[in-house]
This record gives sequence, C-alpha cells and structure tokens, in this order.
Amino acid sequence: MSAFAKFRISELVSGTILDTQVAVQGWVRNKRESKNVVFISLNDGSTIQNLQVVGDPVHLGETLLRKINSGASLTVEGTIKASQGKGQKVELEASQIKVDGEADPEKYPLQPKKHSLEFLREIAHLRPRSQTFGAVFRLRHAMIFATHQFFNERGFFNIHTPIITGSDAEGAGEMFRVSTLDGLKPPLDDEGEIDHSKDFFGKETNLTVSGQLEAEAFAQSMGLVYTFGPTFRAENSNTSRHLAEFWMIEPEMAYYDLNDNMGLAEDFLKYLVDYALKHYADDLEFLNDRGIREEHQKPQHQRQELNLIERLKLVSDYQFERINYTQAIDILKNSKPNKKGKFQFPIDGWGIDLQSEHERYLVEKCFKRPVIIYDYPKDIKAFYMRSNDDGRTVAAMDVLFPIIGEVIGGSQREERMGQLLARMKEMDIPEKDLWWYLDLRRFGSVPHSGFGLGFERLVQFVTGMTNIRDVIPFPRTPGNAEF
Ligand code: 4AD
Ligand code: MG
Repeated sequence: MSAFAKFRISELVSGTILDTQVAVQGWVRNKRESKNVVFISLNDGSTIQNLQVVGDPVHLGETLLRKINSGASLTVEGTIKASQGKGQKVELEASQIKVDGEADPEKYPLQPKKHSLEFLREIAHLRPRSQTFGAVFRLRHAMIFATHQFFNERGFFNIHTPIITGSDAEGAGEMFRVSTLDGLKPPLDDEGEIDHSKDFFGKETNLTVSGQLEAEAFAQSMGLVYTFGPTFRAENSNTSRHLAEFWMIEPEMAYYDLNDNMGLAEDFLKYLVDYALKHYADDLEFLNDRGIREEHQKPQHQRQELNLIERLKLVSDYQFERINYTQAIDILKNSKPNKKGKFQFPIDGWGIDLQSEHERYLVEKCFKRPVIIYDYPKDIKAFYMRSNDDGRTVAAMDVLFPIIGEVIGGSQREERMGQLLARMKEMDIPEKDLWWYLDLRRFGSVPHSGFGLGFERLVQFVTGMTNIRDVIPFPRTPGNAEF
C-alpha cells in the first residue's frame, strides 16, 4: 500500500527525522481512545520503545478502530512529528492505517499488563512481543555479534564442530543418543546387544556435549580458533542454571598456557559487558528498573546488594581476582557461613568440588568482584587437563560471576603423550575411541589451552534474568520440549 519510505521504529524514536511522511509496521501494544483522538502504541521489535501513533477516530472510522487491538499487526502511514505529550520525543500522526492481521481481544494471551515469567514461558511463541523478552533477545543478539567481533579482531577463526559426534569420551555430561534404528525391534548382534554397525553411521553416535576436542585439532593447525554452537546434556538437573540444549563458545589456542588462557577469558568477558553497556543502554536501563522492582518484592535480607548495571560495572571496572583451588578451600573453610553451618554442602577438606553457594560466597561476599579459581584437584576434572608438577592438581580454571557462579570452565590441555595416556588409563577412557586426538600429540604437539563460556549463563548475567529458561528462545529442559 505504501508510497512512503518505510522506517523501523528504532530509526524514528530519537527524533532526528521530523515532519516527514513515513510508513511503519508493527504490533499493537495498547490502544487508548476518546471521542476526539485515538492513541496506539506500536512496537516492531527494533527497540524497547513504542511509537505513539495518533489518529482521528472520525477519519479512521468505527469499523477499522474496532479491529485495532493489542496483538494486531498494522501498517501505518503518516507524518512523524515532535510529540506534545510526555514520555516520547516523537509521534506518528496517522493518515492511513491498514490492519494486516487481527487479534481477537478475548483470546490474545498477552494483555498490556504484568504477566508472570512462568506464564510467559507457556507462551514462548508470543513472549518476544513483551518488553522484557524483546530486551532480553536483543541483548542475546548483541552478545553473539560482539563474540564474533572480539575473536575476529584478535585473529581467531570460527570453526563449526560437529553436532552429531562419534566420540563420547569427553565426559562432560550424559549424552542424547542419535539413531535411526527401530526402537521396538532393533537389530541384535550375537550377544543379543543392539547392533550399532547396522545404525545410520555404522556406530553409536550422540549429540555433542562440547566442541572442544575437535577444536583442538584446528588450534593445532590454524593457531587461534573458536567454536560457537549448540551443545546437549541429558543431565536431569532442573535448576535455574541448567538447560538440556544450550550454546557454548569455545576458543582453543595453540601456544597459550593457563595464564594466557585466564587473560583471554577476562578480556573477552569485559569486552562483552562493555559492548552491552555501550550499545544497548535502553534495554539495560529497562531491565535494570525491572530488576529493582523485583528486588523490592523480596524481604530485605534476600535482596541483591547491587543492581544489574552495578553488577555489569563490577565486571568492566575491576580486575578479576585469581586464586588457586587450595586458597579457595582455605577461605571457605574458615568462612562465617561454613563455621555457622550455613552452607548446604559444608567444606570439610581438600578435594571436594565447589558448589554454586561456595562460588557465590567467594564472589559476592569475600572479593566483591569476579573470581578465577585455577589448579583444581585432578580427580574432579576431565582427562585432557594438563597435570601440574605437584602430581595432584591440573591446570584448570573456572571463572565465577555474581549470582550465576561458574560462567566459564577451561584448562591448559595435556600435550605430552605419556601423561595423557596415563590419565586416560586412570579414568578408563579407551585409546581406540580417541586415536585421532592422540595423533595430535604424536605429530607436532604444542602446549595449548582453551575454555568454554556457557552462552545462556552469560546472557543471564547481562540481562539479570534469574532463570536460564528466560534467556533462550525455546528452552529444552527435562520434560519440556514444547514449540
Ligand atoms: O565446564 P564445562 O562442562 O566445560 C566444557 O565443556 C569444556 N569442554 C569447555 C572447554 O574447555 N572448551 O562447560 C562450560 C560452560 C560452563 O562453565 C557453564 O557456563 C556452561 O558451559 N554449562 C551449561 N550451561 C547451561 N546448561 C548446562 N547444562 C550447562 N553445563 C555447562
Ligand atoms: Mg565446568
């Protein structure tokens, strides 16, 4: 219909374009009507801000007005003007409105009022039309874009590692099987076991839990690489920080030791947070206010000390604290909550794995800034991590953030064939499954390191959303794969 130039609302709300005829398309958030004037707030997803459309009810006509309800899609033509009213710089004086798709006001679930996040999760196909989720998913995009920009600026190459994997040796979590065999009548071998040689790939295959091992092959040929892909873990952990399908960013660097690795992790996280603060101030401000309102619903002693923007500044302004595992255990053992029996998992000795309550204590109470813990006991870490000279720790590192706890896990890799084989033996990992991984130690092996950033945990941190299900478009968790 339109003879006018089309604009996205993000291009108009700043007020640089005025007294110009434009066309805008989007979804109705709200309509307010009186005898002489109708106000429609329209959003097209390009920005947190709505465009105020002003119309003359007589000119537009009763039939049309009745079709303009929350959720309907419109094409509006008119003149963009400086706004007389409060709350917006510009408004669109409508000369013509076309209803592209109606929305029955009796049935449209997303009313212009506050809905609970739990309810919005049930309508995950409509929730990106809400202000909160619009902001969350714009920021999610921002973090994807900034990730590629960061690594590109530093000379890294992006590698797509396989999603279906034939090696299940990583041990990062329970895996989802991939098979085309008949589930009721699978072919059996002589011992009565399922005969995987008859399966699609001629062997057992799974969805990947990590692209690391494959990325290592490319680090030892292209030097600096990273993967950014979906990963799958079939753990039955129904927490606010776990998904069965999540995205991971895994850089892998030849000739990096553990210190270089920690340095890169810190630079990367600061870059991401700075990018959000610089380019997505509108959305962050909205989410910050939202967070403050939520906190006020809680009893005083449960409230966060810092608001969202303050927490982001904690990452961008402070150097991360680096302590080794042994120091962390000492601090925790002597901490008030441990002595008073406040930890659900009391700290009684060296060698135990840290729980998120411990990680949060170190970050939020003890150091009041992000913390990197390195040199963990070898018994609680993966086979590929490089053995330290003390014989009991490995060159691992975890980056811990406020509220979220672990956002990054990584290590220097064991590049020495003898040590690697010994660790695999200790952990019952068959050599034949990882022949190609061992080849990398056989031919031109070099010291190297890498880490994995849980992308949704990062987006949780940047948006302040407390449940990980609210930062991925369509979450997959135990018992839930709707949409
Ligand atoms: O610590 P993880 O298991 O490390 C690895 O998989 C290594 N292969 C990474 C590497 O060195 N290349 O997982 C890395 C990160 C965690 O720190 C956490 O942020 C996130 O992935 N993560 C999850 N995020 C959401 N849901 C889950 N179930 C997650 N499990 C791990
Ligand atoms: Mg980990």
